[in-house]
Amino acid sequence: MDSILVKGGGALNGEIPIAGAKNACLTLMPATLLTEEPLTLTNAPRLSDIATMTQLLQSLGSEVAGLQGGKVLAMSSYRIGNHTADYDIVRKMRASILVLGPMLARDGHAVVSLPGGCAIGARPVDLHLKALEAMGADLDLRDGYVHAKAPGGRLKGAVVEFPFVSVGATENALLAATLAKGTTVLKNAAREPEIVDLAQCLRRMGAQIEGEGTATITIQGVDRLGGATHPVVTDRIELGTYMLAPAICGGEVECLGGRMSLVASFAEKLDAAGVSVTETERGLKVARKNGRVKAVDVTTEPFPGFPTDLQAQMMALLCTADGVSVLEEKIFENRFMHAPELIRMGAKIDVHGGHATVTGVEKLRGAPVMATDLRASVSLILAGLAAEGETVVSRVYHLDRGYEHVEEKLGACGAKIERIKG
Ligand code: UD1
Repeated sequence: MDSILVKGGGALNGEIPIAGAKNACLTLMPATLLTEEPLTLTNAPRLSDIATMTQLLQSLGSEVAGLQGGKVLAMSSYRIGNHTADYDIVRKMRASILVLGPMLARDGHAVVSLPGGCAIGARPVDLHLKALEAMGADLDLRDGYVHAKAPGGRLKGAVVEFPFVSVGATENALLAATLAKGTTVLKNAAREPEIVDLAQCLRRMGAQIEGEGTATITIQGVDRLGGATHPVVTDRIELGTYMLAPAICGGEVECLGGRMSLVASFAEKLDAAGVSVTETERGLKVARKNGRVKAVDVTTEPFPGFPTDLQAQMMALLCTADGVSVLEEKIFENRFMHAPELIRMGAKIDVHGGHATVTGVEKLRGAPVMATDLRASVSLILAGLAAEGETVVSRVYHLDRGYEHVEEKLGACGAKIERIKG
């Protein structure tokens, strides 16, 4: 298994291109199942999660070709040849559940294994299933699989009110509603930029959707959807992660393709910590003002609040801040698994349930540490860049699920980072 060696100390200066969003791409790809015509995604990120979704779609009979080194995904699902999403693929990635809505909407039946994914809490899919049930689906849970049927072969429009915000459930319901008979209203819908991107792509395919980006999305079902070409939105989590690199190490980095609207609440916290963020024509320029950063309190929330997917990386910054910071995790229980690893590097962190109290120290020290999930792994790399001495992050297969060319991107700004093949 590969590991990453980081030698800490120096400031970072330069520019980092930000890729298309993994989480947007993972919800856009299943949209191919809604149409017999080709769907092409440009600005796709090159990640192992995308390879897993490719494999899943291919197992269902879709053609998926990665062009231009994987930056363009040309997909075609002339017919769905197999309506069963197998456990062997689904268990690798939770987003696999997103093939359920489209298959059910197009052909009136689907069988999908219940998913696995990152070990950050229970993460059930009950809201996905309730939304589809409200649209008329008959669901039967047997042997770890969801067996779904639409009576008469077609879902019907419904009012779906989510009890709390779920990105994935909103996406599954949105995908399914495009081909349902009648009008669907999604209330308390997620407002994430990835949902807006999905709605824009579906509209290009002929769907009738209003209200994406607000808490109420209205979809007028159509009889068929056609092909389209769609650019994947910028990855706001990769963006935020690299914005933290100069914040932690000092220096100035321009994140190309970044926009303030994608990371406004996060940028506000950086500003409060003493890190400047400026929007330029090419992206976002981030520089650490003089001296140590200041402690800030952070609470994770659905968009437009502070994203849970940046909590681990933000904690890495606050480990060396001046003062005491409290981080509250409101989206996932059990999402502080990076804390014990940061403590190995000299951080002072107390975790109590959904809160972590971080008392800033002057310096972290390099240490061998272990990545426990995707965002935790990159937080350890960021911490290593600011630490004295060497840090070796093992189990980096988590990292490869969500960050392309991380060594090259940070290395180009002066970071001492290399992959050790294992
Ligand atoms: C997506 C993102 C993930 C991000 C998360 C929150 C993808 C591929 N992943 O995950 O990176 O951290 O949004 O921004 O886009 N829940 C239920 N029942 C359900 C669905 C969710 O109880 O049916 C709970 C979850 O356990 C969690 C909360 O709802 O506590 C929010 O989860 P959700 O927004 O659905 O996250 P994902 O779509 O899985």
